[in-house]
Amino acid sequence: MENIRRPDNMVRITTPELANKYIEEQIEALRAQIGDKKVLLALSGGVDSSVVAAMLIKAIGNRLTCVHVNHGLLRKGEPEQVIKVFREEMGANLIYIDATDRFLDKLAGVSDPETKRKIIGKEFIDVFAEEARKLDGITFLAQGTIWPDILESEDGIKAHHNAGGLPDDLNFELVEPVRILFKDEVRVVGKALGLPDNMVYRQPFPGPGLGVRCLGAITRDRLTALRESDAILREEFAAAGLAGKVWQYFTIVPDFRSTGVRNGQRCFDWPVIIRAVNTKDAMSATVEPLDFALLQKITARILAEVKGVNRVLYDLSPKPVATIEWE
Ligand code: XMP
Repeated sequence: MENIRRPDNMVRITTPELANKYIEEQIEALRAQIGDKKVLLALSGGVDSSVVAAMLIKAIGNRLTCVHVNHGLLRKGEPEQVIKVFREEMGANLIYIDATDRFLDKLAGVSDPETKRKIIGKEFIDVFAEEARKLDGITFLAQGTIWPDILESEDGIKAHHNAGGLPDDLNFELVEPVRILFKDEVRVVGKALGLPDNMVYRQPFPGPGLGVRCLGAITRDRLTALRESDAILREEFAAAGLAGKVWQYFTIVPDFRSTGVRNGQRCFDWPVIIRAVNTKDAMSATVEPLDFALLQKITARILAEVKGVNRVLYDLSPKPVATIEWE
């Protein structure tokens, strides 16, 4: 499947009918490629890997093994949703690994953003490779590679982020059932496969997860404040009808504190920064002009509900000069 290219005349998949046709063709192709062998998939809960999982479950059922590694830097409710949707609703053969302590121990005291990213990336491969070695008789590795990944790696814009990076002893053959699709098509296919809307229309989420939003050396208390404030922001955006309209929105917790007063007593707590941006290609971005009353409501909830936080700020910086993520 490695050299399959998107045909020049391929019709853009925009309807359930076109999606179902694609799914049928792929299921046939997957069965032909895989035969009676077994497939492994790193299931992050992101759109691409979720669609690949749902497609493979349809094609080969329990001969697919999904591994969901929780690196402790996922958003509130995400690992639970992966387990609920794939194991409970779709009956997937899902191995869930809570590697939170392992990641946070490795990250303890590390404040340099690039070093943090490298640690998270390497640890992820190590955990996944360890699990893969425990399994017998796996021939294939499924990946959520999509067509823009191929184009960008050919253009030399970025290294193909799905290119595995697994150690040499794990030389699987690749299975890439969404390889020729654009992102919008992956979503239409995901919907047709019955995945829930909040998985299919999920905003982009970086691989290093909350790790690049818990600034500096990650601590568990700030990570909790980050996760809780992010959940409040998502709830309020959904209630205001902004989910799916604003391209990306999240919170950030920096590694400095400021003076405040709570219940008549001095407090010395963390700030929470809100970021909400719109973009087409993530190369440049504008800030969403949020309604002030909504900002006030989110602020009030964060200050009342999130422990250790005494200020809320809104990031007004477009990209460039600022990047979307803070690290
Ligand atoms: P920046 O911060 O560079 O982000 O303006 C642009 C977009 O890319 C996402 N992002 C990542 N996605 N792995 C990913 O899969 C990463 O390491 C990563 N870093 C940033 C970011 O969330 C934004 O959508």
